[in-house]
Amino acid sequence: MDVFKIEGGHSLSGTVEAGGAKNAALPIFAATLLTGGVCRINGVPDLSDIRFMAKILRYLGARVDQVGPHTWEIEAQEVHHCAPYDLVRQMRASICLLGPVVGRLRRTEVSLPGGCVIGPRPIDLHLKGLSRLGCKVDVRNGYVEVDGSGLCGDYLYLGGRHGSTVTGSANMIMAAVLAPGTTRIESVACEPEVVDLCQMLVKMGAKIHGIGSHYLKIEGVKELHGCEHTVVPDRIEAGTLLLAGAITKSSVTVQNVIPGHMRALLDAMESSGVPFECKPDQRQISVFETRATLKPVEIITLPHPGFPTDLQAQMLALMAVTPGLSFITERVYPNRFMHVPELLRMGAHVSMEGASAVVNGVNRLNGAPVMASDLRASAALVLAGLAAEGTTWIQRIYHLDRGYEELESKLNLLGASVERLPQDALPSDLIEDS
Ligand code: EPZ
Repeated sequence: MDVFKIEGGHSLSGTVEAGGAKNAALPIFAATLLTGGVCRINGVPDLSDIRFMAKILRYLGARVDQVGPHTWEIEAQEVHHCAPYDLVRQMRASICLLGPVVGRLRRTEVSLPGGCVIGPRPIDLHLKGLSRLGCKVDVRNGYVEVDGSGLCGDYLYLGGRHGSTVTGSANMIMAAVLAPGTTRIESVACEPEVVDLCQMLVKMGAKIHGIGSHYLKIEGVKELHGCEHTVVPDRIEAGTLLLAGAITKSSVTVQNVIPGHMRALLDAMESSGVPFECKPDQRQISVFETRATLKPVEIITLPHPGFPTDLQAQMLALMAVTPGLSFITERVYPNRFMHVPELLRMGAHVSMEGASAVVNGVNRLNGAPVMASDLRASAALVLAGLAAEGTTWIQRIYHLDRGYEELESKLNLLGASVERLPQDALPSDLIEDS
């Protein structure tokens, strides 16, 4: 297992490029099961989650070839219907195989994904949606068994206690595109990644109306054909890179970004006084060096277009070094604060009140040995390490590799000092008990 050694206090400068969105590429990979034709996907980030989804698709019978650093070709002439526990449990997002396998084969068996550190990760809305579309859904021995012989278009409402569901929406859309009749989905997620999936499905011959809104009308078709598609830029990676510039009070330009996908983050940055400029026509955003003291903010995470939960940890890191009281509330994953105990080790002043963090910003964090726990918490610790005085060691950075392609290379290109080292490079007093 690798570790990061970060020497903090460097100011950054320069230009980096965001990759394609992991959370678009994963359902898009799953959607290739809907056709026997060849799908060529460009702009795919080189991540462990992507390689894992490719492994599952091969297990299900598809031909999956990486034909370039960020280009894959997938052809699912034959598809098996069962995705086993030992594969699915390793990546929750594999639940988005439910919809396309039911749509293509009219049956599936997918292991229940289980929870993760950010929360229980239920799939009740996914199962309710499939039932509304005429499927017989049983949960038995840790598996979801779906008999989709009665699959047919219908009306379904996807709102839950925490708003809509992103992969649940992807699943319902992918089941509906081949369902006889018309499907109307109310309270569908409209994250840019769901929009990107819909745009690829339309290229494959699907009939989807209302893309980008919370209401979709889908006219089922008999079959879909292959296509070529380029994955939408990753707004979460782009936001993380912009916040790296903000937390080090540096000038950083991020390319391959769509400002219209990041309005909530940009609004928060503006409220805090982070100087930035958007150039939508050039698909780029720049933050600028500043000597001004940033202002604390109040953030509440919500489904898109609200403030994305996937940038909450990174924003909290910035507020940890912004003097004054900031209030950060999670309305999507109330327990998603695994980064807080680690930031406290670096000298942050944060107290938890239920699903809200009260952040009393300090002038400077101190480098310390910390532990990554999940993908976005890891990113927050990297940002904190960049701004801290001294050395920060981050263990278990395999969490980071799930969602960031060569983050250390991009940050070092900007002037940071982030070394990826083997676990045994850790100072002896830090090595975890085996
Ligand atoms: C997607 O997860 C993303 N993952 C997550 O990104 C992201 O944090 C999340 O959407 C919210 O934006 C992928 O797209 C692969 P949800 P998903 O279903 O679809 C509750 C990252 O860091 N809910 O939209 O699993 C659920 O408990 C990852 O890149 C139900 O109650 O999230 C949560 O509170 C982490 N019942 C809320 O809804 C359900 O059936 C949002 O969940 C489904 C969800």
